[in-house]
Amino acid sequence: MKDFYFDCAATTRRKPAQVREAMINFYDHIGCSPGRGGYECSLDASRIVLNTRLSMGKLFNFDKTENIILTHNITYAMNMILRGLLKPGDHVVTTTMEHNAVIRPLNDLVKNNKIEVDYIKGDAQGYVSAEAIKDAIRENTKAVITTHASNVTGTILPIEEIARVVEETNAFYIVDGAQTAGSHFIDLKALPIDIFAFTGHKGLYGPTGTGGFIIKDEAAKDMDALIQGGTGSISDRDFQPDFLPDKFESGTTNTIGIAGLGAGVDFILDKGIVNIYNKKKSLTEYFLRKLEKVEGVTVYGPKNSNIQTSTISVGIKDVDLGQISFMLDDQFNIMTRSGLHCAPYAHQTIGTFPEGTLRFSFDIFNSEEEVDYVIDSLNKLLNA
Ligand SMILES: Cc1ncc(COP(=O)(O)O)c(C=O)c1O
Repeated sequence: MKDFYFDCAATTRRKPAQVREAMINFYDHIGCSPGRGGYECSLDASRIVLNTRLSMGKLFNFDKTENIILTHNITYAMNMILRGLLKPGDHVVTTTMEHNAVIRPLNDLVKNNKIEVDYIKGDAQGYVSAEAIKDAIRENTKAVITTHASNVTGTILPIEEIARVVEETNAFYIVDGAQTAGSHFIDLKALPIDIFAFTGHKGLYGPTGTGGFIIKDEAAKDMDALIQGGTGSISDRDFQPDFLPDKFESGTTNTIGIAGLGAGVDFILDKGIVNIYNKKKSLTEYFLRKLEKVEGVTVYGPKNSNIQTSTISVGIKDVDLGQISFMLDDQFNIMTRSGLHCAPYAHQTIGTFPEGTLRFSFDIFNSEEEVDYVIDSLNKLLNA
């Protein structure tokens, strides 16, 4: 029986054929370590990593490809960034719409490294304005960190405006792009974002175990390397290199994953990010329209495809959402995610803590027919 995958905010399950092909090609024809030998297959492996950086640079309009740091996912990236950048006495401004990938390392740094954090509360739709961020910035604010879009409500935060506000201060602006990379055009040449972090396995269509961050020079200079070790370069030196990407890329890379990530990014470039954005937007509109007619359902977040991603969270009157998620899978082969989505503060913000919501999230491989099936199945379950 066909299955219906509606958990793309967690990871995209259907990958473009070229992603699988690039990964198979890596072990069929290459299989060596990049930057670790002068023989052809090592050079080929280096070319794969370089090409992935070039494609990423094209997607985010960023020329300095050595400043594109590849890690295992955005959680690793965020830990490297926050622990590498923040020192005792530093102040951070962030929002209640963040994922635990940001919240937990920050709270740990508060507890053990004496930093201070202000969480700016989102409104009922999960929105945080640039003015609210501006008001919280102080003399000793080292960084402002916001998600681009909530993984609970899909709410898009005004990163362009926030970037302009932070630019006027001494703070660095760090964006968590986990939910928008690959579907929203982010121009890193034009925007004063100091660090843009991404994960590879969601909208970029790469495999799991890929992610990273794009860092501007000033922030890179200020940030310590949390992970240190072999880089394949200047092995005679006792200390970590200070040039990029080596400063932040120690240990053998996940080259097969990076091959897949590069192919995923190329898929987006071929298809056109605007087309991807439009397809997801129109499906979001369609889904929201259909949901309006399902009795007992409350939709959280903006309910407006102009200011949200293709992630839709709902509550349903008098039912256990975990049970509904289970039954959608068990009886209808529909995969969704219920609960707190690793973003407890976001649920507190929209008033759905601790029970959470039922989240539907989709990508360009979903269709209106699939949405019809989901809505039909939901109605059947709720009427039964
Ligand atoms: C906004 C946001 N940040 C961070 C993450 C963490 O991503 P990863 O598990 O790939 O590190 C997620 C994933 O759910 C997310 O949605």
